[in-house]
Amino acid sequence: MLVRYLSLTLIMAGLVFAAAALYKTFNHQPDVGWAPTPDHSAELGLAWASVGPGDVLYELGCGDGRVAIVAARLGARVVCVEIDSALAAKAGQAVKAAGLEDRVEVLNEDLFDVDMSPATVVFIFLLPSVNERLRPVFEASLQPGTRIISREFEIKGWPAGRRLELPGFLFLGWTMPLEVPQQAVHPLEKSL
Ligand SMILES: C[S@@+](CC[C@H](N)C(=O)[O-])C[C@H]1O[C@@H](n2cnc3c(N)ncnc32)[C@H](O)[C@@H]1O
Repeated sequence: MLVRYLSLTLIMAGLVFAAAALYKTFNHQPDVGWAPTPDHSAELGLAWASVGPGDVLYELGCGDGRVAIVAARLGARVVCVEIDSALAAKAGQAVKAAGLEDRVEVLNEDLFDVDMSPATVVFIFLLPSVNERLRPVFEASLQPGTRIISREFEIKGWPAGRRLELPGFLFLGWTMPLEVPQQAVHPLEKSL
């Protein structure tokens, strides 16, 4: 009887794990499609943010790994997070071909599931809506002094970023923690 009970429990647990894996596979879609940042722009953007030895750069949505490779060549250690399995595999191959496996780790994961607290620099090229969802994650997990570089898009709720404008490209930068202006309190609210 006990054996039967234990077997049933194991089968149930297996089914739960399988369902969780299937849920993860089918429900974690990219929040943004792939559009690469050319090497030269990445070099200028990362140099502008003083990325170099001693940095741990998290690239959230790293596509085929080209920005990660530029960052590693500047001396940073890099965590390249990409939800699309084919792109993540491509990034892994590119990192290997560049001989940078000791500096770049490729994670085939959803960027919202990753612990980014070890980062000293975060690089994103996403969309305004995704940046907005990331803002509380950054505020909760990034260490003071961590720089954030966003290609093209501001982060709603934060002061305007420092700007590097290149022909056809825009990089925006912030350093944690941010001086976020407090929302004005209505005089009536104050008296309550
Ligand atoms: C506009 S591309 C930028 C690629 C790369 N950062 C670059 O600048 O060359 C955005 C990338 O984010 C990936 N992505 C979208 N949503 C994601 C998510 N939730 N987690 C991880 N990667 C994601 C896409 O698959 C795509 O490769």
